[in-house]
Amino acid sequence: MIIFGGSNSSNLAEKVAKCRNYELGEVEIRQFPDSEIYVRILSDVKDRECAVIQSTRNNDNLIELLIILDALRDLKAKKVTAVVPYLGYARQDKRFKSGEALAARTVLKLISSSADRIVTVNCHFLNEGGVFDADDYFDVTSRFFEKNMKSDTFDSIHFDKKIKNDGKQELVIENLDAFPVVAKYFKNKFNENLVAIAPDKGALQHVKLAAEVIGCEHDYLEKTRHSGEEVTIKTKSLNIKNKNVLILDDMISTGGTIAESAKVIKQCGAKTINVGCVHGVFSKGTEMFKGVVDEVVCTNTINRECSKVDVSELIAGSLFH
Ligand code: R5P
Repeated sequence: MIIFGGSNSSNLAEKVAKCRNYELGEVEIRQFPDSEIYVRILSDVKDRECAVIQSTRNNDNLIELLIILDALRDLKAKKVTAVVPYLGYARQDKRFKSGEALAARTVLKLISSSADRIVTVNCHFLNEGGVFDADDYFDVTSRFFEKNMKSDTFDSIHFDKKIKNDGKQELVIENLDAFPVVAKYFKNKFNENLVAIAPDKGALQHVKLAAEVIGCEHDYLEKTRHSGEEVTIKTKSLNIKNKNVLILDDMISTGGTIAESAKVIKQCGAKTINVGCVHGVFSKGTEMFKGVVDEVVCTNTINRECSKVDVSELIAGSLFH
C-alpha cells in the first residue's frame, strides 16, 4: 500500500503511513499562475494499492483530490482508495426548498467515479460509524419530500431510483467515528466532576458514546438554526453548577453553535467549559472563544493549532482491513 497526501492533509498522510509502515508516495503538487492545479505522481504505482488522503475543506482541495485519484488510475494503480477525513459539502444533503442541489451527493459521485473506495471520518449526514450505501440515504431524503412537499420534486425521486437501479453509480461510503478518540483526550484531562453536553439533539448519540468512554454524565441543549450563521440555544433544566462541562460536536464551522452554547452553560454556573469537536473548520477563526471557553480541541482531520487529537491510527486501521 502506498499512501499519498494531498496538500491539505500531507501531515496526516505521513502519520498514517508511519502507523503501519506503509510507503509514503511522492507527489508534486503546485498551482499554475492562473491558480489551476498541477499534479505529478513521482512514485511507481503500477499494480499497487494506493490511498490518497485529502480533506476537502475548499474547492481547490476537492479538485486536487480528483486529479490525484484520476492520475493514479491512469498510471494503472491496482486499487485506489480516497480517504477524505473531512468531507466538504456534507451538510448540503437535503433539499430544503424545491430545486435545491444535493451538493453532498454531487461531491460523492465525483469522488467515487475516480476511486474504488471512499473512507471518511464523521460524515455530517451519517449518525454512526460503518459502511453505508449513500444512495439509500438520499432516497430517504427524497421520501421525506414525497410526504412533505409538492409534486414538483417527484422527478428527482425517480431520478434517484434510476441511478440506483442502473447500478452505475454506487455511492458506498465508509464512515469512521472519531468521537471515542476525542473522548479519550478529555478522559485524560479530567478525572472527576465532568459532564458532556451535546449542543443539539443531532449530536446527542455521539455525546452519549463519548460519555461512556469517559465515564461521565451527559445531557443536551436545544438548538434552533435561523440561518447559516445564526442559532439560538435553550436549555432544559441542566444540573451543571460547579461542574466541568465538555461540549462535544461533530464540527465547528462559524463557531456560532459553540459560542451560544457556552453562554447558556456559563449562566447555569459551570465551573469550566471545554470544547471538543472532530472537524475544526473555524470559518471565522477561533478568537471568539477566547475568554468564553477554557479550551477548544479538534482532531487533525483538518490541521489546526488546536488539533490535539490524532486520527491517524483510526484511518490506518481502516486501510489495513
Ligand atoms: C450541525 O448540525 C453541526 O453538528 C454543527 O453543530 C454545526 O455545523 C456547527 O456550525 P456552526 O459552528 O456554524 O454553528
